[in-house]
Amino acid sequence: MNVNRHGWTRRSFLMGSAATAAGLGIFGATRALASPRPLRAYAADKGILFGSSISGQVLKDSLYADLFTSQCAITVPEGSLKWDTLRPTPYRYDFSGGDWLYGMCKSHEILMRGHTLVWEGALPKWFAATANAENARTMMLDHISTVVRHYAGKVPSWDVVNEAVQIEDGRPDGLKITPWLRMVGPEYIETAFQAAHEADPHATLVYNENWLEPEGAGAERKRNAVLTMLTRMKKNNVPVHGLGIQSHVYAEMNITGGGFKRFLQQVSDLGLSIMITEMDVREKNAPGDIAIRDRLIASQYYKYLSFMLQFPAVKTVITWGLSDRYTWIATHNPRLDAMPVRPLPYDAELRPTPVWDAIRSAFEETRRR
Ligand code: G3I
Repeated sequence: MNVNRHGWTRRSFLMGSAATAAGLGIFGATRALASPRPLRAYAADKGILFGSSISGQVLKDSLYADLFTSQCAITVPEGSLKWDTLRPTPYRYDFSGGDWLYGMCKSHEILMRGHTLVWEGALPKWFAATANAENARTMMLDHISTVVRHYAGKVPSWDVVNEAVQIEDGRPDGLKITPWLRMVGPEYIETAFQAAHEADPHATLVYNENWLEPEGAGAERKRNAVLTMLTRMKKNNVPVHGLGIQSHVYAEMNITGGGFKRFLQQVSDLGLSIMITEMDVREKNAPGDIAIRDRLIASQYYKYLSFMLQFPAVKTVITWGLSDRYTWIATHNPRLDAMPVRPLPYDAELRPTPVWDAIRSAFEETRRR
């Protein structure tokens, strides 16, 4: 018997996915091919914005660009607004990539979110040798002020701080030990939100985080740390308006459990909006068979989105890419058997996969916002 390292047999995968697919009556032959309506329209029916991340690079692919502009009502640059792109030197800002993307989105009536103002990732090469405890706060404030003012009135929402919590780092407050934390101190988060609000008082300001979904003690501690932080910020009138849940998940994970549900309710009760900011589904440990994998991935999309969309605070759904032709997973987290990954609504040939139907079904079945 073919048993993988998680103890699943090929047969259990087949049975599980077939049962889910039969129950839903979808995810077999893809209906998207016959649909004259894009996903953005199904989302709009319910007052939801649907879209995917984008980079200027992939828009050179004209077929992909057509797909992107037809399906998406909202986007977020995958790299163009990160420090390593915006800041070629400590003294110069280069908005050319972001401005080009913004212009393209505007001409297609696609909203463009901003990602991300403060993160330990994607820092330019010069950063480590230049930033120190004396100048880091000023550098952070200058960056936020310059970038948010540049796009004020254009970019409606920002991931102000990204991935700031990591329980494994051992701090009582759960904060991740990043260059920002070390050089500016734990108040860097609140300071960043204040600065973004000053630069554009109308922008929706979001704290964006990963791995909030799993059950188990580690994830529960992470959720508690995020909730404590958001609660304190609200109490102190720090201008935080939303929580971004990245939603990079695995097909085989339980991501709709009680702990996560309680957390979503608590975040909603704080009056925050909740955005699905970077969704994709990996199936690293599933068998190679494409039909099986597609059903598993689509089932996870359907299950997760149906669950998330129970919460009226969820009004934005963004996938991290639209087609398997361009996905970070292919390079950053490939399958062990080297078969192409299939985490998104369109495959590498730009054909809709069962994921497309899963997303559409979740939109069709949710209540209008
Ligand atoms: O721009 C260079 C290019 O000049 C060079 O030829 C090429 C060779 O590898 O590298 C290019 O830079 C890469 C960049 O993506 C653009 O493709 C970087 O090496 C690579 O590290 C970078 O990865 C991005 C990563 O964030 C770090 O910025 C991924 O595409 C992007 O999907 C990923 O996105 C993150 C979110 O921001 C936060 N949440 C998790 C998510 C996935 O990791």
